[in-house]
Amino acid sequence: MNYNEKIANKYLLLNLHLEIYKKLYEEVCKNDFSYSRAPNSRGRPYQSYDFINFKGLRWSVEKRIKDMELEKFYNKKSSSFDIGCNFGFFVNEFSRYFNDSSGCDHVKEFIEIGKIVNRYLCKITKKKLKVNLFCKKFEDLNLKKKYDFITSLAAYQTTDKYQRGNPNKYFEKIDFFLKKKGIFIFESVSYPKNSDSPDFANKKNSESAYNKIKKLFNLRSVEEKKSGQYYRLFIEAEKK
Ligand SMILES: C[S@@+](CC[C@H](N)C(=O)[O-])C[C@H]1O[C@@H](n2cnc3c(N)ncnc32)[C@H](O)[C@@H]1O
Repeated sequence: MNYNEKIANKYLLLNLHLEIYKKLYEEVCKNDFSYSRAPNSRGRPYQSYDFINFKGLRWSVEKRIKDMELEKFYNKKSSSFDIGCNFGFFVNEFSRYFNDSSGCDHVKEFIEIGKIVNRYLCKITKKKLKVNLFCKKFEDLNLKKKYDFITSLAAYQTTDKYQRGNPNKYFEKIDFFLKKKGIFIFESVSYPKNSDSPDFANKKNSESAYNKIKKLFNLRSVEEKKSGQYYRLFIEAEKK
């Protein structure tokens, strides 16, 4: 890369951050339950993405992908779908390694950020990365195709309370949209083990998710990991 290209890329990245923060500002102004307003976020946005040097409150998507060992599922002939995709950082990262990568979130500004990041990645990588982002609640989404790889990361029984409903409908819909031999990855929202905690319901919800996933899919791995002061349940499952 020559000097001019380096400078141009630096400006492109600065402009990307500016565009992302504009959307985040629009979102936080109109949403009293924005994740950026949650006490533990200390004003930080939710997702982080090393590739674009963007810092949020969670580990970067690259670090989370490594931690969940998801690279083994990368396949240039496969399609991925991420439920509750937030800024679409997983969707964008997956688009580099799958044939096409989709996701949904009901927050308009998050979906717009995902599209902005896709345009940036296409420019920087000089590749046509196929990304589809739907601004809809997963429950209300009519998908036109099935997927090889579906992720639900901290997207079931969300702490913003926008995803609610019974586990049967949620996980049966995932099962329906998974192709034969397809993989489903589940990460719970974080939960405490202390029953006095106001967040203890999150533990009960993780257990009901586990019970439903166990019935519907073949389990490949189940692991509980520490997440700050709390815990999260991680499940890797395959379509029966
Ligand atoms: C805790 S964040 C997790 C974001 C992302 N999956 C991750 O792990 O980095 C939950 C996300 O789910 C979205 N969400 C909440 N309810 C939803 C629903 N019913 N359908 C789709 N997305 C939803 C929120 O807007 C938010 O972006």
